[in-house]
Amino acid sequence: MACSSGDRDNFVLSGATPRTGKACMTIDERTDHRLPPVVDLMPPGARLDGERLVIGGQLASELADSFGTPALIIDEVALRARARRYADGLAARWPNSQVVWASKSLPCTAIYRIMGEEALGIDVAGGGELVMALAAGADPSRFVLHGNAKTDSELAMALEAGVGTVVIDNLDDVERLERLSSREQGVLIRVIPDVATATHDAIATGHQNSKFGLLIPEARALIERLRGSDRLRLDGLHVHIGSQILDVAPFARAVEAIAALGEFEVYDLGGGLGARYTYDDHPPSIESYLDTLTEAARRFLPSSARLLIEPGRSMIAETGVTLYRVVSVKRGATRTFVAVDGGMGDNLEVSLYGQRFEATMADRVGGGESYTVVGRHCESGDQLIESVALRDPAVGDVLAVAVTGAYCLTMANNYNGALRPPIVLVAAEGARLALRRETYEDLLGRDAAPPPPS
Ligand code: LLP
Repeated sequence: MACSSGDRDNFVLSGATPRTGKACMTIDERTDHRLPPVVDLMPPGARLDGERLVIGGQLASELADSFGTPALIIDEVALRARARRYADGLAARWPNSQVVWASKSLPCTAIYRIMGEEALGIDVAGGGELVMALAAGADPSRFVLHGNAKTDSELAMALEAGVGTVVIDNLDDVERLERLSSREQGVLIRVIPDVATATHDAIATGHQNSKFGLLIPEARALIERLRGSDRLRLDGLHVHIGSQILDVAPFARAVEAIAALGEFEVYDLGGGLGARYTYDDHPPSIESYLDTLTEAARRFLPSSARLLIEPGRSMIAETGVTLYRVVSVKRGATRTFVAVDGGMGDNLEVSLYGQRFEATMADRVGGGESYTVVGRHCESGDQLIESVALRDPAVGDVLAVAVTGAYCLTMANNYNGALRPPIVLVAAEGARLALRRETYEDLLGRDAAPPPPS
């Protein structure tokens, strides 16, 4: 690849290998049994150039050369295709509707801008996400503000910005909003539907003891109270039962549960559809998820109601790949460790939820022996993949970990002084930096300690 610019983080790759993948393929459609299975977990349109991985028309190892590692690569074409698939799919089934992207899945101004351009609404949880969404120029009337602990200042920011919908989680939200708002504000009440989900406990939110939302009796009482409010316009109800859900049935049960609270103009049915991280994961397709939601809505909700949904993970996870460089290969007692230049500083999914990931050497895709991929951080739990087949990993090689688009960069941190990685967008025209890598100056920049006496 021609590499002409000296500034590696701002370098734009030429689209030397134009992508030819169909934009809206489902996982089953894009399965090509001649390719190693790991390619199926890469963004749609990923392919091989010889034995080398190509993502969004770019050689993965050349992206690593140009932008450094670790780096989160997002296939912009795949992301926009998913946004449209969601929006068109929902509109076809329920015209009075809006897809609202759960921005916590990858909060980065460039991604907010893409979602705004695709005419999606934006779910913002707190002041930081609100600031990024506004900076991206997205339309605040389509924002939905969430949070179980929204502060006065965050609510004031939202009201000032003209956020269309505030989701009330608790009675303190009501007290604050009535005190802070000077004009009518549209609100939804978040309801606990008492629906169990087969996901990790830390990301299940539909059960009776959830910290999010109000129990049905409390919600009922609040509905009565809000009917008399001159500031807060109760538009409807919100429900979100959890994340990485691989079965559609609980989504329908949640719709049925909130229908018991009466008829409203708006129902926000949250997010939660799972992504395909491993060969054994078979999440429902976006279409079957939308079929389930809209069939339940047809059964239980008023036909004139406006439906909102808030996908996060299922929108973006499968459009992302993280590139690392191998720093060390070392034989242990029972396994061989491949240590890379990232780890739990940029991917907490493994440590927090035991999520399994798949990976490949970027320039030797498929096959190989079993290795344990570990990170660079000072604890044994910093393991990215317990056992994965890799072909001849060696120091300096690039490792590509699939399906890291959602929640990895979101929860990136500075453990051991790690610098949070950049986000690189790839599309047929080339690759561009969306978020630069953190620098050591950034780490020092927040230091408020007085300088030592000279
Ligand atoms: N709506 C609300 C109100 C939410 O709280 C969430 C996610 C979503 C929508 C989007 O859900 P999704 O479609 O992404 O499943 N840190 C965890 C994920 C927590 C999800 C939090 N809420 C992780 O890394 O897996």
